Amino acid sequence: MKIAIGCDHGGIAIKPAVVKVLEENGIETVDFGCFDSSSVDYPDYALKVAEAVSQGAVDKGIILCGTGIGISIAANKVKGIRAAVCHDLFTAQMCAQHNNANVLAMGGRVVSAELAEQMTQIWLDTPFEGGRHSGRVDKIMEIENKYFK
Ligand code: RB5
Repeated sequence: MKIAIGCDHGGIAIKPAVVKVLEENGIETVDFGCFDSSSVDYPDYALKVAEAVSQGAVDKGIILCGTGIGISIAANKVKGIRAAVCHDLFTAQMCAQHNNANVLAMGGRVVSAELAEQMTQIWLDTPFEGGRHSGRVDKIMEIENKYFK
């Protein structure tokens, strides 16, 4: 398993905790930055992670900004991306189980490093349930196919 991670200055505080979880799980991590707290533009990092997932260079992605909102909106503009901004263990679990989210987004100004670790772990551990959810996710991708060129 290979996971790409990217963040802006608003998400960098929780990045080390997330990377630690990936390492503990034996997951190869591709870190697209940023690497310090200088102000940067979150769409730049969303794009790097989303393209890596979309092109199959990595299996999944994790993106972090202040709220998780801006970086997830940007990532969802890339074909094939289902980025979910999550705030707690339940949403992190459900986005994997029901939505087959291939990118997890979190906010460094919303969740603590400890909670981000736990959310990352539950997202990694939770398989997509399939069944009735497959058809719904397929419908999401049909919308994408209709509107994305
Ligand atoms: C940066 O200040 C902040 O706007 C960004 O990290 C993110 O929260 C945007 O959605």
